[in-house]
Amino acid sequence: MRQAGRSLPEYRKVREGIPMLESCTRPELITEITLQPLRRFDVDAAILFSDIVVPLRAVGIDVDIKAGIGPVIETPVRSARDLERLRPLEPDDVPYVTEAVGALVTELGGRPLIGFAGGPFTLASYLVEGGPSKNHDKTKALMYGHPELWHALLGRLAGIAISFLRIQVSAGAAAIQLFDSWVGAVSPDDYRHAILPHTKRIFAALGSHALGDDSVPRIHFGVGTGELLGLMGEAGADVVGVDWRIPLDEAVRRVEPGKALQGNLDPSILLAPWEVIEERAKDVIARGRTAEGHVFNLGHGVLPETDPGVLARLTDLVHAESARTPA
Ligand code: CP3
Repeated sequence: MRQAGRSLPEYRKVREGIPMLESCTRPELITEITLQPLRRFDVDAAILFSDIVVPLRAVGIDVDIKAGIGPVIETPVRSARDLERLRPLEPDDVPYVTEAVGALVTELGGRPLIGFAGGPFTLASYLVEGGPSKNHDKTKALMYGHPELWHALLGRLAGIAISFLRIQVSAGAAAIQLFDSWVGAVSPDDYRHAILPHTKRIFAALGSHALGDDSVPRIHFGVGTGELLGLMGEAGADVVGVDWRIPLDEAVRRVEPGKALQGNLDPSILLAPWEVIEERAKDVIARGRTAEGHVFNLGHGVLPETDPGVLARLTDLVHAESARTPA
């Protein structure tokens, strides 16, 4: 339930007067905000408080997160020369992440911490558009019109993701998630040629061939990716995230065997009366039973207006329901 913090008064309180990206560079604040939802909800894992643009800022990109808007980049990346601004990420660029993950692993006492990074299409979109975009037109124009530049850009972003994820795994993260949130904007054919090689490289670099006994479960998520789920599975993650647009039993048919699924309750359902939430959550669990493995989650982040009491109730319902043997 990422961004659960946004619905919590204690989150808004500790963040008061501190810009989003600055709060991601203060280890004590990262630790505190990561732990806040766990004090209220009996969730099975914590997700690190950070953002997908943190490593971009760490290598010197002039990115900021504007409240209610999202990541904004003063000077967009659109030419071969601009690419030079995307240098590789080193552990020394993000000491606060290493420190916070280490502290969290101790605090969590065995409860897993999920580390994460932004996927190559999603980060490319923020860099090329200069901010959030509905249709990702400039990004796709680059993808179609300048394939060499496109692959050079995604290659650099994949390298940054690999480095950011490995830093978190070395510090003790128990699983990693790649958020290619906006990749649902492309067709399967374009995904295969323009994006898949880069996501494959990321998951291979975090897998057991590369990290041996230090490897951790890998999750791959995007929004509106119903038509891409098969290819996203091919990219190599162990778990494929599904938004709410297709039911999990249909997702099972689209993803190759050997993978678990994650999802997929529509976050807006949490604004409905409890009876509706209960019925829909039970339906997600029932359909999830058709998968080889299922991690119950929302199909996207928690909406800021969600009642935290409802999140607590939902967490308890999911535990009770999944412990039950189906009739
Ligand atoms: O639960 C957590 O807090 C986990 C940490 C987390 C954040 N961002 C913190 C955050 C995670 C996993 C992310 C990932 C992220 N960031 C994604 C991919 C995840 C997804 O939901 O698909 C994307 C696309 C971003 C970029 C981004 N950052 C957006 C679109 C926004 C929202 C802007 C807004 O205010 O509407 C952010 C800001 C952001 N990242 C917030 C948080 C808690 C809210 C900032 C605030 O509290 O002011």
